[in-house]
Amino acid sequence: MHDTLLLFGATGDLAQRYLFPSLLHLLRDRLLPADFRVVAIARSEHDDESFRGWLRDRLGDDYEAATLDELLRRVRYVPADLSDPEAMAQALSPFADRPAVSYLSTPPNLFASACRGLKAAGLLEPPSRLVLEKPIGHDLASAREIDATLKAALDESRIFRIDHYLGKAPVQNLLALRLGNTLFEAVWERRWIESVDIIVAETAGVDGREGYYADYGALRDMVQNHMLQLLALIAMEPPAAMDPDAIRDEKRKVLRALRPMSPSAANADSIRGRYRDGVVDGRAVKGFSHRDDVETFVGLRAWIDNWRWAGVPFRLVTGKRMPSRTTEVVVTFKPVTHWLFGADERKRARANQLRVRLQPEETIELGLMGSLAASEWSANELQPMSLDLAMLPPKRRIAYERLMIDALKGDQTLFVRDDEVEAQWRWIDSVSEAWRQAGTPVHDYPAGSWGPAEAVPFLPRTLTTHNGRKS
Ligand code: BG6
Repeated sequence: MHDTLLLFGATGDLAQRYLFPSLLHLLRDRLLPADFRVVAIARSEHDDESFRGWLRDRLGDDYEAATLDELLRRVRYVPADLSDPEAMAQALSPFADRPAVSYLSTPPNLFASACRGLKAAGLLEPPSRLVLEKPIGHDLASAREIDATLKAALDESRIFRIDHYLGKAPVQNLLALRLGNTLFEAVWERRWIESVDIIVAETAGVDGREGYYADYGALRDMVQNHMLQLLALIAMEPPAAMDPDAIRDEKRKVLRALRPMSPSAANADSIRGRYRDGVVDGRAVKGFSHRDDVETFVGLRAWIDNWRWAGVPFRLVTGKRMPSRTTEVVVTFKPVTHWLFGADERKRARANQLRVRLQPEETIELGLMGSLAASEWSANELQPMSLDLAMLPPKRRIAYERLMIDALKGDQTLFVRDDEVEAQWRWIDSVSEAWRQAGTPVHDYPAGSWGPAEAVPFLPRTLTTHNGRKS
């Protein structure tokens, strides 16, 4: 396990909210190597002491004093301008004495020069590794350019591209559920499945990230990475082994089987929205007004052109400023083949549905039909019932804790490979080009609603009934 972590973007939002807290938890639980050290790097003119003071103020009182002191003792600060590879190399070469993991939590336009600086400092020599935060580019062409720069500095086996959804235990549980049971995998295909919904609804808005978001929108910010990774885990063939390449090979195949969106399908298979002023959690919030042609809500119908999934729509929906926060996957099965019961029951009949909620709570619901609730003399009185499993796991770790440990250990299973990123961008580019050619509009929706009125066909009924009334 490597014991040197160079954290670029150390004063940024991600570092404050997730990366340093993750390190604190790992230290508290004694999961880091004895000589673990963090080199924090950003542009601000701090020295070690002033950075430690700054960090202490940010991390605050939530942590045990002894753990916080221990983290601060292990932190050094180096001011560096990543656009100046020579100066960077000079400042950082003293840390090349041990194999290191360099973690770029910086905008992608700095990846290329940061790589040159790291290379010159000797920090990308084997077995040192590089971790990259999203977004990796803005489209396929820019992602390829970034990739070429990375490959000039180190090989794929030492490049760790983060998609923090893969670090979430409930996301890994999707695999456990699907592949650890006979029940699901046996019917996991077009003959038995009608549709799949993947929803990531947030109550949060774009707040404070308007500049970035105006260039990305929901399609590039959420669908290109997290949602396509969820889709890949759900739709891939079972890998032959639980090793990084076996899993990533299967994910790549599915991503490559996504049917590119055509301009003629754009207006039927997608919907875009942008939140306006409204009320979320009882609080009045302002609309997103930074740019008119950028969506904060997107609904897509994706088609996977292979034997397993031909004809099964995968509906992907994500939006900001929704009425409640929820990430869930809903698998709707086909109606029963031959109906034996009465006409009234038929009207009440609901297709089986597997609903896996990943956050904020973790629940699994299996919608069934049964007669248990009927009076004892009429076993044919079928009613919809639900098998509910509310999981109360011990407090879950921050996704980044798992990912940092894996990067320090060198396990790439939960990191995204170059060819997956390419396949993801290829499909996203087809959607944005289809939107451009079809002139797909961005509809307004009030903050605190489930998106524009036109989005209803993209939303599973369970979403709006279980998670607050449709507004
Ligand atoms: C990030 C996006 O990757 O994921 C954000 O840039 C989004 O816009 C966030 O809010 C959602 O992550 P989580 O873990 O809160 O579901």
